[in-house]
Amino acid sequence: MFNPYSPYAEPGFDAWKQGLEALPPSEVLIRKAEQTAQDGRWMRWMQADCESTNIQSVEDNVSKIGQQLVLLAEIADYPVGFCCVLAGRTDSDPLFIQLVAVVPSARRRGVGLALLSVAAASQPQRNIVMATLDDNFDARRLNERFAQSIGGNIQRVPVSRFRPSDLGFARDERHRPWMIDRQQEAD
Ligand SMILES: CC(C)(COP(=O)(O)OP(=O)(O)OC[C@H]1O[C@@H](n2cnc3c(N)ncnc32)[C@H](O)[C@@H]1OP(=O)(O)O)[C@@H](O)C(=O)NCCC(=O)NCCS
Repeated sequence: MFNPYSPYAEPGFDAWKQGLEALPPSEVLIRKAEQTAQDGRWMRWMQADCESTNIQSVEDNVSKIGQQLVLLAEIADYPVGFCCVLAGRTDSDPLFIQLVAVVPSARRRGVGLALLSVAAASQPQRNIVMATLDDNFDARRLNERFAQSIGGNIQRVPVSRFRPSDLGFARDERHRPWMIDRQQEAD
């Protein structure tokens, strides 16, 4: 029976999932998400396919796209990953990478790194903050490799330094923030 709250039964979901199983070796393309139902739905489907991401409604995703930078990664027109980015309120505040997620079938081919690189390039003067769970080793390795790729120095920072909403997590979640200092990059 069609469940309006589940993305798994939505028209097109199965075809997208099947396409993901046979992705060509094409390059990944990163673009800004547009405030359309289609991009909101792509995000919803990727949220459904990635562990540690909450499935949101199309409307909530479209609203997020309207409020902040959301990047989509595509391989041969299939959306395979996304990244939610928030610039701090003042010029000295960092750029918050609130979430980076890549569907399992497109992992380990540089999509995560490509998303972070485009996010960082959108605000080259800001340091970068991202929060991860301590046991999310894939995310922590990605963050370290990313810091290395831009010549920045990554270090833990106290969670009390930032608002949970800027970090992209609820107050009771156990994510711990890291900061990439880009001073070094500019030298
Ligand atoms: C964390 C996450 C985003 C990483 O995405 P990804 O696209 O696999 O990341 P990359 O491909 O850029 O890098 C991952 C690994 O692939 C390797 N890799 C990159 N390009 C490669 C290629 N062409 N061939 C083989 N390996 C490659 C990298 O060297 C890296 O290896 P390492 O971890 O041993 O150092 C992904 O695992 C994910 O979505 N996890 C669930 C959601 C999540 O936890 N998000 C983070 C919390 S905000």
